[in-house]
Amino acid sequence: MAAKGEVSMREQQQIVNVAHRGASAHAPENTMAAFHKGVEMKADYVEIDVQMTKDGELVLIHDTTVDRTTDGTGKVSDYTLEEIRQLDAGSWFGEEFSGEKVPTFEEMLDAFRGKTGILVELKAPELYPGIEEKVAEALKERNMDHTANGKIVIQSFNHESVKKSKELLPELPHAVLAGMSWADVSMEELNEFASYADYFNPNMNIVTPELVDMVHTAGLEIYPYTSRSQEQAYHLFDLNVDGIVTDYPEHVYHHPVKN
Ligand code: G3P
Ligand code: CA
Repeated sequence: MAAKGEVSMREQQQIVNVAHRGASAHAPENTMAAFHKGVEMKADYVEIDVQMTKDGELVLIHDTTVDRTTDGTGKVSDYTLEEIRQLDAGSWFGEEFSGEKVPTFEEMLDAFRGKTGILVELKAPELYPGIEEKVAEALKERNMDHTANGKIVIQSFNHESVKKSKELLPELPHAVLAGMSWADVSMEELNEFASYADYFNPNMNIVTPELVDMVHTAGLEIYPYTSRSQEQAYHLFDLNVDGIVTDYPEHVYHHPVKN
């Protein structure tokens, strides 16, 4: 415990704070309200999940169906943009959020570019052929495909999709997402990831000091997901991770992003 007036070890650490699906403990995930909350809470990045409608428009929603987070039912891919925009994406979380809509990717970029980093997850891209090209196009149209023009990182659990996106957006950093099945990831696999990605972002439950060392040895950074308590955030600080993906940005002290 730091003495009064001293800065604790934890406060000295440069941990990047990523608001998961926006500040999703405080506002309905993947809505403009949650993104605004993330920025207000001084997260370094807001994380978003991108999928595609039946008519090929990019929208932000986590599940591949609309059932859990809207008042509709059925697959995202069975809705046109006009239809999905009629759903209420806020009431399930709290009446004060009624009227929140499923945002479009482009709407989010236009509202938040330059205000926060954006961690873009290509969600289930295998369901949406061409989604990598559409994401790249939206970024290029806004001149956001250069690192000098804002902090944008692209990630996916689908590593072929990450590779494809890296070819389309070579200047932007990319991240490989890893679920529980990657607990025994080898140095060889991490080196292969490092040939097209800059981050290895695993489920927090597989993170050990050895894994963090291996990831760093491969020249990658590590932003585990998803911290949902102060204890979990402290545990990750102690494991020397580079960033934390959290529903609660207040659990991660705000520091400037590492250069
Ligand atoms: O950023 C990592 C995290 O978003 C991955 O998990 O299921 O919340 O999209 P999920
Ligand atoms: Ca996500």
